[in-house]
Amino acid sequence: MSYSAYVFDAYGTLFDVHAAVRRHADKIGPDGPLLSEIWRAKQLEYSWVRGLMGAYADFWKLTEDALDFAFRKVPSADSSLRAELLEAYWHLDCYPEVPGVLKELKADGARLAILSNGSPAMLEAAVKSAALDSVLDAVFSVDDIKRFKTDPDVYEMVTTAWRLYPDAVSFQSSNRWDVAGATRFGFRTVWINRTNQPDEYDEFAPTVILPSLQGLAATG
Ligand code: LAC
Repeated sequence: MSYSAYVFDAYGTLFDVHAAVRRHADKIGPDGPLLSEIWRAKQLEYSWVRGLMGAYADFWKLTEDALDFAFRKVPSADSSLRAELLEAYWHLDCYPEVPGVLKELKADGARLAILSNGSPAMLEAAVKSAALDSVLDAVFSVDDIKRFKTDPDVYEMVTTAWRLYPDAVSFQSSNRWDVAGATRFGFRTVWINRTNQPDEYDEFAPTVILPSLQGLAATG
C-alpha cells in the first residue's frame, strides 16, 4: 500500500532544533550543547504540563520560557545572547535530506503536511526559510485548537481537514513520544531515530524505524 498523505512533525524531524545554538557556538562556549539540550527538553516539558493543566500558551512563549530556564541552569552561557538565539529559531536549518525526500513523495502524487506544536508564525518562517513552502500542501498548527501533542484532537486535525481515515496517513516524527501519540490515534507511524535512541513506549510501537527521512518513499 502506498500512502496518499504524509504528515511530518516539524521540530527535530524536518528542522534541526540545535541549529540555533550551533550557529552561535563560538560565543556560547563549551556548554552550548548542554544549553541546547535543556532548552529543548524544557520547551517540551512545558507543552506537556500546560496540556495537562489546560493552560495553553503559544509555543513561542514556551520556547522563550525554556531558554530563560536553560540560561539559569547553565550560568557559564552568556545570557546576553538570548535575543540572537531566539532570532535563530525562526530560520533553523532543515536536515539535508528533507527537500529531496519531500519532492520525491510529492512527485509520486502524495499530499504533504506539517503537524506541529509550533505557532503558525514560527512554522511559516521556518518553512519559508527552508524553501519548503512550494512542496507542502498544508501546515497544521496546534494553535488552531489550543491543545498540544499528544492530545488525540491534535492528530485528528489532519483526518478532519483531509477527510481521511487515520490509517491512510503516514506520520513521521523523530520524537518517540509523538510517535506514540500518533500510533495510538491510528496513523501508520515512522520513527525517525536521528540520534540512535533506545526504543520506548512499547505499547505504541512505530510501523517503521529509519535513521533519517531517506528511503521513506520505499516504505509505503
Ligand atoms: C513539534 C514538536 C513536538 O514540531 O517538535 O510539534
